Amino acid sequence: MKYKVADISLAPFGRKEIEFAEKEMPGLMSIREEYSHTKPLKGARITGSLHMTIQTAVLMETLKILGADVRWASCNIFSTQDHAAAAMADAGIPVFAWKGETLEEYWWCTQMALLHGDKGPHLIVDDGGDATLFVHEGVRLEKAYAETGTLPEITAKNKELRIMHKLILQEMDADPKRWHRVAEGLRGVSEETTTGVHRLYQFMEQGKLLFPAINVNDSVTKSKFDNLYGCRESLADGIKRATDIMVAGKTVMICGYGDVGKGCAQSMKGFGARVIISEIDPICALQAAMEGYEIKTIEEAIQEDAPDIFVTATGNCDVITADHMAAMKDMAIVCNIGHFDNEIQVDAVLDRPDTQKIHVKPQVDQIRFDDGHSIILLSEGRLVNLGNATGHPSFVMSNSFSNQVLAQIELWSNDHEKKVYRLPKVLDEKVARLHLKKLGVKLTELTEKQAEYIGTPVEGPYKPDHYRY
Ligand code: NAI
Repeated sequence: MKYKVADISLAPFGRKEIEFAEKEMPGLMSIREEYSHTKPLKGARITGSLHMTIQTAVLMETLKILGADVRWASCNIFSTQDHAAAAMADAGIPVFAWKGETLEEYWWCTQMALLHGDKGPHLIVDDGGDATLFVHEGVRLEKAYAETGTLPEITAKNKELRIMHKLILQEMDADPKRWHRVAEGLRGVSEETTTGVHRLYQFMEQGKLLFPAINVNDSVTKSKFDNLYGCRESLADGIKRATDIMVAGKTVMICGYGDVGKGCAQSMKGFGARVIISEIDPICALQAAMEGYEIKTIEEAIQEDAPDIFVTATGNCDVITADHMAAMKDMAIVCNIGHFDNEIQVDAVLDRPDTQKIHVKPQVDQIRFDDGHSIILLSEGRLVNLGNATGHPSFVMSNSFSNQVLAQIELWSNDHEKKVYRLPKVLDEKVARLHLKKLGVKLTELTEKQAEYIGTPVEGPYKPDHYRY
């Protein structure tokens, strides 16, 4: 199968928006210019598992211009922009993604992107770690099969793992070493987001990481821009497209005050909302206090302030429980901007005998409790900015994706151990530089004397690795 998208006739519309986006993605366009002749990714088979948006299309075509053979799936069932997927399929890139996949379809798409014919990829561009997890689970199950001689039973409690295991087991009899071959052929993965990076460090600490990895999220020009300024714009976009609510005057509870939470809080405050934060980390809680936010537990806030909007931004599970939702004010909006949907106990609230789900429109549901109050749940608890809107603006994604391309070049050009690496600061500064011209920024240059005085090279890098920005 060459591709699977919702509607290939959307390709011309997708192409027009890609052309708009290119103008706002100076980092990626400069990288195209710099490397289009040397083609540093020549011969590389790349699998992407990353939101199939217009901005991602510019990334995919950049990888292709640099010589790679690219296949793609989205990393969320709601985040695909169908016109972007169609434009990529039309341009000859095998893409398996549409908005509103079932979980079974989602994992099938991930598998289709991972299998380049009967081969695997050399490199993965991952967002949240699902493609990486697929390969690791494939290898683990194949090992179990080899040891016992019988196909392993599907015992995972997690619904998504069960679906993925079923797909892996379907082929195992016919090809019991498929995922071993894929893992052996992999030169590495570059990971986009906080949650995926956590998974990689866990694999490494447990000695289970099967191939090298680059943590793109912790490049300064990624997490201190995309997570912060990206969410500052796209959170409000998601909430407003879903509900048309006026944010000014409302009380908004943001759970988690990391990079994403900081952007969300600033956004809601900017609209004129009263913002309450919950945190587990004393440093982040203190930061929130210094910015003038109230910090409370979610239970306290529900009782004392009856927030109108709840946003989870923690990367953690069970942050908003079914009991919390039962106690919220009528028509409270509940949404998540963290990577996975387990921040909100969606299944648990729907399993309660006193709730009823009323579908309002795609990615907007009303959950009515028998006591008469309702809550409005956005994107079934999946990331609101990509489910209810179109994700971050192109400019900030150009920063993130420039890091992704540089990470892919690094993994393809050099050998690495099975560890998690970060890109050197000099490349971080390069990504920032590539975006300054578009903003009309004029940098001050160090004099030799000044450089010597502060102990940095005139041309950078300007800060030690431990500097926090
Ligand atoms: P982070 O680690 O900087 O921040 C998360 C914060 O949540 C931390 O300060 C942590 O102390 C706090 N936290 C953890 N458990 C909590 C709990 N039970 N209650 C309250 N606070 C709690 O991570 P970052 O970069 O802010 O990312 C957060 C999530 O958003 C991740 O899942 C990440 O992958 C995702 N993400 C989503 C984006 C989007 O466009 N939707 C963009 C970038 C990241």
